[in-house]
Order: sequence, then C-alpha cells, then structure tokens
Amino acid sequence: MARRKNALGLDIGSSSVKLVQLRESKKGIQLANFSMAPLPTEAIVDGALMNASAVVETIQGMVAAQKLKLKDCAVSISGHSVIIKKISLPAMTQEELDESIKWEAEQYIPFDVNDVYLDYQILQSRPEQGQMDVLLVAAKKEIVDEYAGVVREAGLEPVVVDVDAFTVYNAFEASYGFPPGETVVLIDIGAGTININVVSNGVSTFTRDISMGGNQYTEEIQKQLNVSYDEAEAYKRGGEAGIDADSVVPQEVEQVMAAVSESMASEIHRSLDFYLATSSEGRVARVYLSGGTAKVPSLARIIEDKVGVAVELIDPFRNIQIDPKVFNLDYINEIRPLAAVAVGLGLRRAGDK
Ligand SMILES: Nc1ncnc2c1ncn2[C@@H]1O[C@H](COP(=O)(O)OP(=O)(O)OP(=O)(O)O)[C@@H](O)[C@H]1O
Ligand SMILES: [Mg+2]
Repeated sequence: MARRKNALGLDIGSSSVKLVQLRESKKGIQLANFSMAPLPTEAIVDGALMNASAVVETIQGMVAAQKLKLKDCAVSISGHSVIIKKISLPAMTQEELDESIKWEAEQYIPFDVNDVYLDYQILQSRPEQGQMDVLLVAAKKEIVDEYAGVVREAGLEPVVVDVDAFTVYNAFEASYGFPPGETVVLIDIGAGTININVVSNGVSTFTRDISMGGNQYTEEIQKQLNVSYDEAEAYKRGGEAGIDADSVVPQEVEQVMAAVSESMASEIHRSLDFYLATSSEGRVARVYLSGGTAKVPSLARIIEDKVGVAVELIDPFRNIQIDPKVFNLDYINEIRPLAAVAVGLGLRRAGDK
C-alpha cells in the first residue's frame, strides 16, 4: 500500500510561522519547500492565539506565495495547555488501558479530564513489579481546536496535531538517530518558550516548558540601552539585520546578553537537576539546541559551563537533501536551527499516530 504523502509541516511559533514540505522516497528525504513569515508581536502569547486573524492571514500569504497545492498539514502546540507526564500504572493490556486511561489520567492533570484530548503510549512494562510506564499527553481541547480552526480558516487541513517537544524529537531522530543506551537532552529555545525534552535510550522520559526565550534578550537590551524594540532586536543579532552595515553594536549589548544567557542557563540547569534527582537514568551525554535563540553566539557555551555537558546545535536538515539550484544555501544555513520544529512536523503524514 502506498503511504500517504508527507503533510506540510507548519510551525506556528510566537515570532514567526515556518513551513516545511518534505518528499520522502527510496532516494531519501528531499526538501521541497521552506518558507518563513513573521507574526506581529503578541499575536501568540504562551501558546494562546491572541490575534488569530493575523495568524490566518500570515499562513494564507505563505500558501499563496509558495503556490502550495497540498492541503494536509501537521501543526503543534506547546505551553501551559499541554501536560506531558510519565506515569506508572498497574500492568494491563492495551485494550484495558484504552478503557481506563481517562480515569487514570484524572489524578495527573490539573484540568478537567473532559476538557482535554488524551494521548498515551506504553513505554515499558515492568512485570516483576506488576507495573508499566506510560507516557501521558493531555492537551486542552480549547487550544487544539483553536489551532485547528486557524489552520482550516487559512485553507489547510490539520491532519496531525503534535506537541513542540516531540516534533524536535522526530527531527532529531531523522537527522541523527538516538544513541542506544545514552541520555540526550533536546532543547528548543524560541522567542517565548524553551521546550526541554530528555530522551533516554530513544524514549522521551522528561519534558518541561519554560516561559523564557529570545524576547528576554530583546526586552533587556531595549530597557538597558533605552532603544526601540526593533533596534534592540537588531543589536541582539549582532547588527546582522535591520541596522546599517557601518553602525556599531554598543559594547553594553554583550554584557546585557551575557546576563540573560546566564539566567536562561540557570533555569535549564534547574530543570535538568530536577530530572536527575527524580529519575534513575544515567548522566546526560549531550545537550542539543534548536530554535532561533540557539543562534545567540555565547548561549551554547554558557549552558555548557552551567550544566557541565557538551552542547551542540541541531541541524535538522542533516539527513535531508537540499537542491542548491532550488534553494539559496546561505539562507538555509541561517535558518537551520529555527527549522527543527517544522522539519519534525513535515516528517508526519495523515493517519500517523
Ligand atoms: N541570529 C540571531 N541571533 C540571536 N537571536 C536570533 C537570531 N535569529 C533569530 N533569533 C531569535 O530567535 C527567536 C525566534 O526563534 P524561533 O523562530 O525558534 O521562535 P518561535 O518558534 O517563533 O517562538 P516560540 O517557539 O517561542 O513560540 C527570536 O527571539 C529571534 O530574535
Ligand atoms: Mg518555536
């Protein structure tokens, strides 16, 4: 049976929408389309769509500009409306689990169980203890339906709704593969959210979202140097965009950024310490960063110092063929870390679980 085509990977981030189309064949995975469009500030706050019509228009614009015919798309959500937990349940069959998950889940989620969509997966059976580990994902129906509505309004069909942390997992698996027996930490640092996913032996064992991101740098620079948001954003990027080639980034910027990186690294360290204190898995072998904020030059090193583990940037296109006649490789190199979520989504197909 022929498998369905890859869905369009549509990453609706708080600062921009990223769209990836992949083609998988016997020859491998090919990039068919990549585009990115900024969203107005405050259009999305902590995963909530504050300005849905701006998001609809942005997606419509991208679809029109790329002349996309495929309607199936995969989107993802994150933030406080999503709960991901590894829980222990008495050993039971899949059928028994399907029957009882709603009642079992109730005690683990801070929302009414009727207000969430549940997804779950048996991770590991521990027959000696009569127990099994289950990965439970609960997402508020309100948010999922809102995202699906926005996508439909833009003329696309949401065939998969995923969770940001797992999309990076998929992108990483396709590009690198998880090293057997090792624990790696995937951290996506966007504009407003940090998604942490600890993966042990290929299994997601701990996830956490932190409400921090690249906006922190911009806001701090804006405040400390008394400049506009746009100027601050350009300073943050080292004058790479927006300001004249001959204008100089004040030295103060570096200090302000180092301070923000420090506090971000501390938060990440705290989460990983919490994970290590509560889990039986071994030490962390490596941290992999994605998201636009991973491009802050000193951030990886500061996290490395704080956490004491080697930190590397993810290249989600590592295993994806990119035709240099179709794509500008300089541009692709610029956006590699930002594309991780969209690539992870672009690997999905309608009917996937
Ligand atoms: N060269 C750069 N140097 C520093 N920061 C950068 C650079 N390029 C992009 N950023 C920052 O990366 C962030 C955008 O990253 P990304 O696209 O991953 O976020 P998002 O998906 O829109 O947000 P979120 O996932 O938090 O909702 C912005 O804060 C932007 O300023
Ligand atoms: Mg993002």
